[in-house]
Amino acid sequence: MSELVLVIDFGGQYNQLIARRVRENHVYTEIVSYTKAMDAIREKKPVGLILTGGPNSVYLPDSATIDPAIFSLGIPVLGICYGAQLMSHLLGGHVSHAPEREYGKTEVLVDKDSELFHDVSRNTICWMSHNDFIDTPAPGFTITAHTENCPVAAAEDASRGLYLVQFHPEVLHTQEGSKMLSNFVYRVCGCKGDWKMDSFVETSVRSLREKIGAGRVLCALSGGVDSSVAAVMLAKAVGKQLTCVFVDHGLLRKDEGDEVEAVFGPNGAYDLNFVRVNAQQRFYDKLAGVEEPEKKRKIIGEEFIRVFEEEAKKIGAVDFLVQGTIYPDVVESGLGGESAVIKSHHNVGGLPDCVDFKEIVEPLRDLFKDEVRAAGRELGLPETLVSRQPFPGPGLAVRIIGEVTPEKVKMVQEADAIFREEVAKAGAEKGLGQYFAALTNMRSVGVMGDERTYDYAVALRAVLTTDFMTAESAQIPWEVLSVVTSRIVNEVPHVNRVLYDCTGKPPATIEFE
Ligand code: XMP
Repeated sequence: MSELVLVIDFGGQYNQLIARRVRENHVYTEIVSYTKAMDAIREKKPVGLILTGGPNSVYLPDSATIDPAIFSLGIPVLGICYGAQLMSHLLGGHVSHAPEREYGKTEVLVDKDSELFHDVSRNTICWMSHNDFIDTPAPGFTITAHTENCPVAAAEDASRGLYLVQFHPEVLHTQEGSKMLSNFVYRVCGCKGDWKMDSFVETSVRSLREKIGAGRVLCALSGGVDSSVAAVMLAKAVGKQLTCVFVDHGLLRKDEGDEVEAVFGPNGAYDLNFVRVNAQQRFYDKLAGVEEPEKKRKIIGEEFIRVFEEEAKKIGAVDFLVQGTIYPDVVESGLGGESAVIKSHHNVGGLPDCVDFKEIVEPLRDLFKDEVRAAGRELGLPETLVSRQPFPGPGLAVRIIGEVTPEKVKMVQEADAIFREEVAKAGAEKGLGQYFAALTNMRSVGVMGDERTYDYAVALRAVLTTDFMTAESAQIPWEVLSVVTSRIVNEVPHVNRVLYDCTGKPPATIEFE
């Protein structure tokens, strides 16, 4: 078992980043809600604790808090922002409300030598985001850094292993933040850095095996990175006790269904039960005549569940349902909210209500996308699967504007395959968040071989994004676009025009519907 640093979540915006930065230092982390902190400490025996930021003020009546006994367990603790204020408050210091919020990049002046600031510059740029501040540290604490507006930017009681910082070392704007977190885990907690993705895979496989025992497991496999990695991990753990159901809804990219079957099917490398359901016609029938985007999404989501449910019934009672949930999908304490519905997202994750099972298994719920890809490589999944770009659950239906027909699906599949092939050939895919072809429902006049045509326009889209919440249109080299255009109009029947989408998100979205 690897050494573990437990991140105790008070609802801050950057909590997932803390966990990630620590893992980048080869120390394993898990995030646990503050309400379950003491139980988790007893169970998981961490070598260090990090208290995260959070939206509250320590003085509000129902603000998040913790048993102060946590500070006397002999386990080093680092409090960040709200975590720092809470530590000071609970141990007898004083926190005040600042007249003005301190927000943004701020110069922090390191006043004293500290293990936390080993090899860190005396004047270092850090990211601040707080209203309250510590005006008097708790007894036993020494102030180790300040800013112009904040008397206690960092403090510590090294004899008890207690450290606090008002700023956020986990965000990249804190220029030496990664070094500070590394100092905490190595110099304060004494970690050896024995965690790598292979240890994660190994440990997960072992604990899945223990948890599942002789039980039966069902996995809805979409062929996307997350569900594929989760399925392979389960296959490694319990082999034939796992059944993967892959629903081909006829809205996949060109050859995608066969690619998924080649990896997971009877001729693939894994010892599992694989069921491919060719439900294409069923989806096309339901979508016939439907033009409205939200209606299309709802029909596909609903039909997907029906097909899956029928297959699950054939398999019989299952004990566990696998979901490829990853960290960004997890809405932790304090997050979430009432944001407007722009699109009803559908992916194969949303299945639990319809299947008779005892428990959900989510082996990737602590990982980020790139960590999931690393786990996939570790598990020996082919690079084509591991590095694939995100693909929406409703598939090509949201890349065909208006009514979906099998003919239109074929057109968009062919155009998209050409676009991807040429971008890859030119080595132009580096840095692209997503790139694909869509079919507009616009027809226009063209001329081909002396004949008039009245055919469809394909739109090409490529975006730069890391979080998929905002995006810029990518500048694909003109030479590549012109080869793609020429191939599409020559090779894809009924397309006589190719357009490039130069819009960012906002105001557009990445997908067309
Ligand atoms: P939009 O179009 O909303 O897309 O800018 C943002 C990201 O989400 C993906 N997307 C989906 N993923 N189910 C999914 O699993 C969906 O229904 C869905 N709709 C959009 C989209 O491909 C992009 O990466």
